[in-house]
Amino acid sequence: MSFPVHRPRRLRRTPALRALVRETSLRMDQLVAPLFVVSGHGVERPIGSMPGHSQRSVDRAVAEARDLFALGVRSFLLFGLPDRKDDEGSGAWDPEGPVPTALKALRDALPGALLMADVCVDEYTTHGHCGVLRTHRDGSVDVDNDATVERLQKSAVVYARAGADVVAPSDMMDGRVGALRRALDQEGFSETVLLSYAVKYASGFYGPFREAADCAPQFGDRAGYQMDPANVREAMKEVALDIEEGADMVMVKPALAYLDVIARVKAAVDVPVAAYNVSGEYAMLHAAAANGWLDLGRVVKETLTSIRRAGADIIVTYHARDLAGVLG
Ligand code: PBG
Repeated sequence: MSFPVHRPRRLRRTPALRALVRETSLRMDQLVAPLFVVSGHGVERPIGSMPGHSQRSVDRAVAEARDLFALGVRSFLLFGLPDRKDDEGSGAWDPEGPVPTALKALRDALPGALLMADVCVDEYTTHGHCGVLRTHRDGSVDVDNDATVERLQKSAVVYARAGADVVAPSDMMDGRVGALRRALDQEGFSETVLLSYAVKYASGFYGPFREAADCAPQFGDRAGYQMDPANVREAMKEVALDIEEGADMVMVKPALAYLDVIARVKAAVDVPVAAYNVSGEYAMLHAAAANGWLDLGRVVKETLTSIRRAGADIIVTYHARDLAGVLG
C-alpha cells in the first residue's frame, strides 16, 4: 500500500492547528448593526418578519445599542420612521426627526460608538419611492434624479450636524456621492465619512425591510434606479464613479446572492468594501431555524464568514446578537 505524500488533513487535526491556519477572521467590530427608530418613549414594536428586531423609540434604541456595544458591536446604522409622510419625504431632513434625535442620544450614551445614518427618502415618502416623482409628457412617472439629490444633500447635512460619523446614501441616484461630498464640505463637515451603497440591486431580499421601515413602493418597483441582478460590469462602473466622486467606502447589497460581485469589487478597489447582509437573508435563516431545520448559530457564523471571505471588510447585518452567541 502506498501512502499519499500530500496530506492536507494534517493541518486540520486539532483546534489550535485549525485556528493557526484559518484564513478569514470574523469579529464583532467588523459588523454594523441597523436600528429602526420611531418617535415616542418606551416604544418597542416587534417586526414580524425579522424575529428579534423592533421599531424602537430613541430611549429603547439607545438601550439596544448599549447591549450590542457590550457584545462588541461598535457601529450602528440608523433608519427613521416619521410620524407623517409626504410626497417629497421632507421628514428625511427634519432636524427634530427620529434619526437626528437618536444620533444625539447615542452620541451622549456611547461616546465610543461609530454612528452611521442611512440617507434616503423612501421611509418618508407617501409613495414609498426613493426620491421625488416626476410625470413625463407621455404620462409615465419616475423618480427625478437631480431634484432627489438636492433633498439628499439636505438630509446628509442634518445627520452630520446631529453627530453622524458616517452618512450612507442608499438611493441609487446618479451623482449623489459628489453632491453629498460638496454639501458636507460646504457646511463644515469635511470629516464626515461617505459610505456609498454603490452597488445596490433591485432585490426580492428586501421584503422584510419594507415591513420594518414601512417603505414598500405603493406602485411600480425600484428597477428604474436599483440595479439589474444580472449585471456585474455595471456594478464595477457604479463603484468607479462613486470613488471618483469621493466615496470613502463602497457597499454591495444584498450580500449572499452577490458574493461574486463583492469579490470583484474587492479586487478592483483600494477603499474599504462593505456588504449588506439584508433583511431577507436574515429572515431565511431565522425561519428555517424556527422550524428546527438549521442550527442558527452555526449557519450565521458560516454565512458571515462567507461574506468576509468573498472580500467584505465590513458587514452590515441583523445577526449581531446571533453571532455573539457563537463567536468563541
Ligand atoms: C432604502 C433601503 C432599503 C434597504 C436599505 N435601505 C430598502 C429598499 O431599497 O427597498 C434594505 C435593507 C434590508 O433589506 O435589510 N432606503
